[in-house]
Amino acid sequence: MFCIDTWKGGEEIERVNLPFDMMEVLKNFVKNVNEHPQRSKIQYHVTTSQRGLIDLLRRKESVVNFIYLDGPHTQRDTLVDLTLSLCLLKPGGMIIVDDYKNQMATKNTLLQPRKAVDFVVETFDNEVESFVTPEHQAVIIKK
Ligand SMILES: C[S@@+](CC[C@H](N)C(=O)[O-])C[C@H]1O[C@@H](n2cnc3c(N)ncnc32)[C@H](O)[C@@H]1O
Repeated sequence: MFCIDTWKGGEEIERVNLPFDMMEVLKNFVKNVNEHPQRSKIQYHVTTSQRGLIDLLRRKESVVNFIYLDGPHTQRDTLVDLTLSLCLLKPGGMIIVDDYKNQMATKNTLLQPRKAVDFVVETFDNEVESFVTPEHQAVIIKK
C-alpha cells in the first residue's frame, strides 16, 4: 500500500479554518503504520499527490488495484490526480474519489472536484465505467 500526502493540510482546511495540527496527524499516522502487523507492505510518501503519483508511474512494479483519492480537492488537482491514477490502475481496478458531490463550502467550482471527475470520466469513456455512491463518492472502474 502506498500512501501519499503532504501532511500539510490543504486549500479547504485553511479556508474553512479547520483546527488540525498536521504534525500531530503525521505523528499518529507513522505510529499507527509502525504498529500494524503488515507494516512491511505499507510505504508512505510525504509529498504532493502529483509528484507522488508521477514517481509511482516511473516504477514498473507499482501498477495498482485500488486507489482512494482524498487529497487536494480543487478542480485542477482532481484533474491531474485522477488522470495519473487512471494511468497507474490495472485493468479491472477501482478508483474512489471522495467528496465528488461535496461543494467544499464554496460556490467556486474551481475549488470543487466534480467538474474534473465528470471531464475525465467523459474523456476516458471507452476505458471506464462509473457510478456515484449514496455517500456522494465517485467510483470509477477501469475496463
Ligand atoms: C480531507 S483530508 C483527507 C486525509 C485522509 N485521506 C483521511 O481520510 O484521513 C485531505 C488531505 O490532503 C492532503 N493534501 C492537501 N493538498 C495536497 C497535495 N497537493 N498533495 C498531497 N496531499 C495533499 C492534506 O494534507 C490532507 O491530509
